[in-house]
Amino acid sequence: MKLSFSKDAQKEFEEILTRYPNKRASLLMVLHLAQREFEWLSKDAMEYVGSLLDLPFSEVLDTASFYTMFKLKPSGKYHLQVCHTLSCALRGASGLCKHVHKKYGIESGEVSDDGKFSLIKVECLGSCGTAPVVQINDDYHEGLSIEAFDKILNDLK
Ligand code: FES
Repeated sequence: MKLSFSKDAQKEFEEILTRYPNKRASLLMVLHLAQREFEWLSKDAMEYVGSLLDLPFSEVLDTASFYTMFKLKPSGKYHLQVCHTLSCALRGASGLCKHVHKKYGIESGEVSDDGKFSLIKVECLGSCGTAPVVQINDDYHEGLSIEAFDKILNDLK
């Protein structure tokens, strides 16, 4: 295993542990921390998390692979998560995905050749009343038309 947390991340890890009754209960928070630290959750990163929390790799993988917020492969600089559940589907989510495909040549699960954009279709992002919704990195963009989405994409540096 080659990975380890930076000094700051190690400090944050220790602080996270104080908030939970046992190490297992902190798994989601530690996975967030690991993803921030290592950019995505490689097998090495998940094994490292498992070693920190005394959990088998299979349990870490089970949890990490259940949530689309965890990246199990490298993503682009801008990670586009397009909700495709009912409200968003009815209000044009597939058009948003098609727009990304037309603009950058990528389908769900792919990264653009320049590494700038990755696209993934996700389940409900919890903002159905403002569908369609796209999460770009940590930011939500709601009630998107193709034109509004295109402007947001063009403004990303
Ligand atoms: S259906 Fe898209 S946010 Fe809920």
